[in-house]
Amino acid sequence: MEKMVIEGGHLLNGQVRISGAKNSAVALLPASILADSDVTIEGLPEISDVYTLGGLLEEIGGDVSWADNQNINISPQHMVSMPLPNGKVKKLRASYYFMGAMLGKFNKAVIGLPGGCYLGPRPIDQHIKGFEALGAEVTNEQGAIYLRAEELRGARIYLDVVSVGATINIMLAAVRAKGKTTIENAAKEPEIIDVATLLTNMGAKIKGVGTDVIRIEGVPHLHGCTHTIIPDRIEAGTYAIAAAAQGEKVLIDNVISQHIESVLAKLREMGVSIEENDEQLLITPKAPLKSVDIKTLVYPGFPTDLQQPFTSLLTKALNTGVITDTIYTARLKHIDELRRMNATIKVEGGSAIVSGPVRLEGAKVKATDLRAGASLIVAGLMAEGLTEITGLEHIDRGYEKITEKLLSLGANVWREEMSEAEIVHFQNS
Ligand code: EPU
Repeated sequence: MEKMVIEGGHLLNGQVRISGAKNSAVALLPASILADSDVTIEGLPEISDVYTLGGLLEEIGGDVSWADNQNINISPQHMVSMPLPNGKVKKLRASYYFMGAMLGKFNKAVIGLPGGCYLGPRPIDQHIKGFEALGAEVTNEQGAIYLRAEELRGARIYLDVVSVGATINIMLAAVRAKGKTTIENAAKEPEIIDVATLLTNMGAKIKGVGTDVIRIEGVPHLHGCTHTIIPDRIEAGTYAIAAAAQGEKVLIDNVISQHIESVLAKLREMGVSIEENDEQLLITPKAPLKSVDIKTLVYPGFPTDLQQPFTSLLTKALNTGVITDTIYTARLKHIDELRRMNATIKVEGGSAIVSGPVRLEGAKVKATDLRAGASLIVAGLMAEGLTEITGLEHIDRGYEKITEKLLSLGANVWREEMSEAEIVHFQNS
C-alpha cells in the first residue's frame, strides 16, 4: 500500500496534458455491448476505473484487446447476459451502465448495486423508473438488481431529478427498443453528448442531446465504429485550480474550455489571469487572490466534482468564501482533513465557510473519496512542509499519472510504500 508525499511550496510551471474524460470512458465502455461488431475507443484515460470496466466486458464474453494503454478494441460478438452480482461491479459507481446496456442488448441483466465514492445517499430510482417505463421488470434481490423484459418499447420519461447517470442509462436501454423514447428533464453534461456521439456512430437515432429533451428512435441493430473520447473537464479544472493555488505560469493542453466556463469564471473573479486558445488554457495567478462564493449546479453550472479542490484554493484567498454543494450535500469529508492542515473552515448546513488567507501546514491526511483526494493534493502543493496522503486507491480511480504530471510541472511529489504500522493506522482510521 502506498502513500503520496508532497513537499509543498514549489511553484508550478510548464505544460500539462489532459487525459480522456473518466466519466465518458465509464459509459462508453459499457455502451460497446450494444454493438454487433467491433468498437474501438481511442484516448481512454489510464485509470483503474477503465481497467475494471475492461475486465467486466471480458467477464461477459467480450474479446477485449488494448493497442496500448489508451486505445481499446472490443469485440462484442460473443457477449452473453452473464449475471454480475458482485466482484468488480462493487468497485465503481459506473458499473450501473451495465444495466442499461445489457438490458438494451439482451432484454435482461443482473447487476450488483454499484460502489464508488461515498458522497452521501446516491439513489438510482430514476434509472429504474426509466427502465420500467421501457417495459422492464426491475427487482432488488439480495443487493443485486434484476432486470427482465419481454421486449423493450419506447416511452416518454420525465426525470424527477436531473441525473447524468439516469440520462445515459436510459439512452443505453432505449437505442435498440421498439419505437420512440423521449427523456424529459435530461442532464446536459458533455459526457452525455460524447456517449450519444458514439451511439449515433454505431447507428442509433438520437436527437436533442445537450438540451433537456432527448428523443430516441429505436433501431434493431447497432454496428461497431471508432470513437475518440473528449478530454476530461474535471481533470482540466483540477489542474487549473492547482495552477491558481501554486502556479506561476501553467499551460493546460487538450482542454475544451467551454466545458469548464463556470470554473474559469470563478477563477477570474478571484484575480487569476486565464488566456484561452485552441484546446489550451494559460493560467497565471496574481497575488493576492480574492475569495468567491460558489454553488454547485448541474451542467453548465459549477461542477460538484470541483467543489472539493476549490475549497482548498479558497484557504489562500483574502476574506471569506462560501461553497455550497447542492448536488451532493454531504460531499464534505475533505474538510476535517483540511482542518488538520490548519485551514479555517466552518460547516453550516450544507455549506463550507472558508476563511483566508491561511498558511497551510503539511500533515498526515486521508483521501476518503476521489475529489477529496484532489483537494488534499491542491492543499499539499501550497502547504509548508510535508503532506502525506493515504487512500490513493480513490485518486487512482480518476486521475491518470497524477504524480508524474505534477512532477513535470515542478512539484516535489512522490509515492512511497507505507510501513506496517501506517497500514494498521490507516485501516483503523
Ligand atoms: N439522483 C437521484 N436519483 C437517481 C439518480 C441521481 O436522486 O436515480 C440524485 C443524486 O443523488 C444527486 C443528483 O441526483 O444528488 C445528481 O446525480 P447524478 O445521477 O447526476 O450523478 P451520477 O450520474 O451518479 C455522475 C458522475 C459524478 C458526478 C455526478 C454529478 C459518473 C460515473 N459520475 O454521477 O462523478 O459527481 O454525475 O455531476 O459519471 C466524480 O467524478 O468524482 C463523480 C462522483
